[in-house]
Amino acid sequence: MRTKFIAGNWKMNCNRQQTRELIAALLEATKPISKTTIMVAPPFPSLHVASEILQGKNISLGAQNCFWEDQGAFTGEVSVGMLKDVGCRYVILGHSERRQYFKETDQDVNRKIHAALRYDLLPIICVGESLEQREQGSTLKIVEQQVRKGLEGFSPQQANTFTIAYEPVWAIGTGRAATPHDAVEVHIMIRSTLNDLFGSKTAEMILIQYGGSVNAENSETFIQEEEIDGALVGGASLKADSFSKIILTTEKYS
Ligand code: PGA
Repeated sequence: MRTKFIAGNWKMNCNRQQTRELIAALLEATKPISKTTIMVAPPFPSLHVASEILQGKNISLGAQNCFWEDQGAFTGEVSVGMLKDVGCRYVILGHSERRQYFKETDQDVNRKIHAALRYDLLPIICVGESLEQREQGSTLKIVEQQVRKGLEGFSPQQANTFTIAYEPVWAIGTGRAATPHDAVEVHIMIRSTLNDLFGSKTAEMILIQYGGSVNAENSETFIQEEEIDGALVGGASLKADSFSKIILTTEKYS
């Protein structure tokens, strides 16, 4: 039985003071939550204050990226060990903004997943097609390829720690979410690919989130689907009221 999982990707938003305020408000609003898994991913400089406030609370901490090397001369990069040290439990990998602006490849994502596992960080692995690919009718092929290449070389036991986030690129930050029907179609294909890679027992355990313009108004239409195990939320995770509404709605289905 899979639990529902709501994650907030803050992207390049929230300094330390804004982080304190947002987390304090979220902790208050999510007090009744006991079943839904919740995570927030502030930018690197705000991780430490977030970690201090979240100690022992029901919201986990995640980072938005990492590098695959453990340490050394890699100017500007942050290692998984450092994320673990600051209190992270999750790391978002292969987000489409990383793929688009920083040219991350499936192979990079694969290396980063390996690094995350070395430090027991739980990876949230993002996949999704561009508008052009959707219009060409190649969505399923593209997403399957991303899953196969990104997740190559892991044992079922390692794969048990994975969360996949299906995020169509054209739906991210645009206010134009996929329809639940379209999302479910891709989720079913992803789970069947996971089945092929890791066997049915593991494939049934792996959570698959939907992401892309999820907000307080439309979240229920996704969450109520059996194939959609939660959401990776960007814009709507920056306001305590919208993010907590999404979480409270999800709790009904967790
Ligand atoms: P959005 O972003 O909710 O603002 O569309 C989602 C994401 O990028 O993870």
